[in-house]
Amino acid sequence: MLSLFDLKSVQAFSADSVHQEHCTACHARITGGDGRLLYRGTEGIVEDVIQLHARVDHCRRGAGLDWTEEHIAAMRDFLDERFYGFGE
Ligand code: HEC
Repeated sequence: MLSLFDLKSVQAFSADSVHQEHCTACHARITGGDGRLLYRGTEGIVEDVIQLHARVDHCRRGAGLDWTEEHIAAMRDFLDERFYGFGE
Protein backbone atom coordinates (compact mmCIF):
# COMPACT_ATOMS: atom_id res chain seq x y z
CA MET A 1 0.00 0.00 0.00
CA LEU A 2 1.44 3.37 -0.99
CA SER A 3 1.35 6.23 1.47
CA LEU A 4 1.09 9.83 0.27
CA PHE A 5 4.79 10.25 0.97
CA ASP A 6 5.59 7.27 -1.27
CA LEU A 7 3.40 8.64 -4.05
CA LYS A 8 5.24 11.95 -3.98
CA SER A 9 8.65 10.30 -4.10
CA VAL A 10 7.47 8.03 -6.92
CA GLN A 11 6.57 11.11 -8.96
CA ALA A 12 9.82 12.91 -8.20
CA PHE A 13 11.82 9.77 -8.81
CA SER A 14 10.15 8.52 -12.03
CA ALA A 15 11.01 4.83 -11.86
CA ASP A 16 10.29 4.49 -15.58
CA SER A 17 13.00 6.88 -16.77
CA VAL A 18 15.51 5.86 -14.09
CA HIS A 19 14.97 2.27 -15.21
CA GLN A 20 15.65 3.21 -18.83
CA GLU A 21 18.73 5.17 -17.88
CA HIS A 22 20.39 2.80 -15.38
CA CYS A 23 18.95 -0.69 -15.69
CA THR A 24 18.05 -1.71 -19.23
CA ALA A 25 21.47 -1.55 -20.94
CA CYS A 26 23.15 -4.07 -18.66
CA HIS A 27 20.14 -6.42 -18.73
CA ALA A 28 20.08 -6.17 -22.52
CA ARG A 29 23.70 -7.33 -22.60
CA ILE A 30 22.70 -10.36 -20.52
CA THR A 31 19.73 -11.33 -22.69
CA GLY A 32 21.50 -10.35 -25.90
CA GLY A 33 18.74 -7.97 -26.94
CA ASP A 34 15.62 -6.95 -25.08
CA GLY A 35 16.52 -6.41 -21.42
CA ARG A 36 12.89 -6.79 -20.38
CA LEU A 37 13.17 -10.50 -21.17
CA LEU A 38 15.17 -10.79 -17.95
CA TYR A 39 11.98 -10.18 -15.95
CA ARG A 40 10.62 -13.68 -16.09
CA GLY A 41 8.52 -13.75 -12.95
CA THR A 42 8.69 -17.10 -11.14
CA GLU A 43 10.80 -18.55 -13.98
CA GLY A 44 13.58 -16.16 -12.99
CA ILE A 45 15.52 -15.50 -9.82
CA VAL A 46 12.71 -13.66 -8.01
CA GLU A 47 9.54 -15.43 -6.94
CA ASP A 48 7.73 -12.83 -4.91
CA VAL A 49 7.64 -9.16 -4.09
CA ILE A 50 10.12 -9.59 -1.20
CA GLN A 51 12.74 -11.13 -3.47
CA LEU A 52 12.01 -8.53 -6.12
CA HIS A 53 12.72 -5.81 -3.56
CA ALA A 54 16.00 -7.51 -2.58
CA ARG A 55 17.06 -7.87 -6.21
CA VAL A 56 16.34 -4.23 -6.98
CA ASP A 57 18.45 -3.30 -3.96
CA HIS A 58 21.25 -5.60 -5.11
CA CYS A 59 21.26 -4.33 -8.70
CA ARG A 60 21.08 -0.64 -7.77
CA ARG A 61 24.12 -1.11 -5.52
CA GLY A 62 25.91 -2.78 -8.41
CA ALA A 63 24.99 0.19 -10.58
CA GLY A 64 26.44 2.53 -7.91
CA LEU A 65 23.11 4.22 -7.17
CA ASP A 66 22.65 5.79 -3.76
CA TRP A 67 18.98 5.09 -3.09
CA THR A 68 16.71 5.26 -0.04
CA GLU A 69 14.22 2.51 0.82
CA GLU A 70 11.55 4.67 -0.88
CA HIS A 71 13.48 4.64 -4.15
CA ILE A 72 13.92 0.89 -3.98
CA ALA A 73 10.23 0.42 -3.18
CA ALA A 74 9.22 2.73 -6.05
CA MET A 75 11.34 0.74 -8.53
CA ARG A 76 10.03 -2.55 -7.11
CA ASP A 77 6.42 -1.39 -7.53
CA PHE A 78 7.13 -0.12 -11.04
CA LEU A 79 8.65 -3.45 -12.10
CA ASP A 80 5.90 -5.39 -10.36
CA GLU A 81 3.15 -3.43 -12.07
CA ARG A 82 4.82 -3.47 -15.46
CA PHE A 83 6.29 -6.99 -15.59
CA TYR A 84 5.71 -9.30 -12.62
CA GLY A 85 2.23 -8.84 -11.21
CA PHE A 86 3.07 -10.35 -7.82
CA GLY A 87 0.95 -7.69 -6.13
CA GLU A 88 1.33 -6.78 -2.46
C1 HEC B 1 25.89 -4.17 -14.31
C2 HEC B 1 24.77 -4.98 -14.74
C3 HEC B 1 23.39 -4.70 -14.14
C4 HEC B 1 22.77 -3.50 -13.92
C5 HEC B 1 23.30 -2.10 -14.20
C6 HEC B 1 21.47 -3.81 -13.38
N1 HEC B 1 21.30 -5.16 -13.29
FE1 HEC B 1 19.59 -6.13 -12.68
N2 HEC B 1 20.47 -7.91 -13.06
C7 HEC B 1 21.78 -8.10 -13.41
C8 HEC B 1 22.09 -9.53 -13.40
C9 HEC B 1 23.44 -10.16 -13.71
C10 HEC B 1 20.89 -10.20 -13.04
C11 HEC B 1 20.68 -11.69 -12.86
C12 HEC B 1 20.27 -12.36 -14.15
C13 HEC B 1 19.98 -13.83 -13.92
O1 HEC B 1 20.91 -14.57 -13.62
O2 HEC B 1 18.82 -14.21 -14.04
C14 HEC B 1 19.89 -9.16 -12.83
C15 HEC B 1 18.59 -9.42 -12.49
C16 HEC B 1 17.66 -8.45 -12.12
C17 HEC B 1 16.31 -8.73 -11.71
C18 HEC B 1 15.66 -10.12 -11.58
C19 HEC B 1 15.26 -10.67 -12.95
C20 HEC B 1 14.41 -11.93 -12.82
O3 HEC B 1 13.16 -11.84 -12.87
O4 HEC B 1 14.97 -13.02 -12.69
C21 HEC B 1 15.75 -7.52 -11.41
C22 HEC B 1 14.34 -7.28 -10.91
C23 HEC B 1 16.74 -6.51 -11.67
N3 HEC B 1 17.89 -7.11 -12.12
C24 HEC B 1 16.54 -5.15 -11.47
C25 HEC B 1 17.48 -4.16 -11.79
C26 HEC B 1 17.25 -2.75 -11.62
C27 HEC B 1 15.99 -2.14 -11.03
C28 HEC B 1 18.35 -2.10 -12.08
C29 HEC B 1 18.62 -0.60 -12.15
C30 HEC B 1 18.63 0.09 -10.90
C31 HEC B 1 19.30 -3.12 -12.51
N4 HEC B 1 18.71 -4.36 -12.32
C32 HEC B 1 20.55 -2.85 -13.03
C33 HEC B 1 22.68 -7.12 -13.76
C34 HEC B 1 22.44 -5.76 -13.72
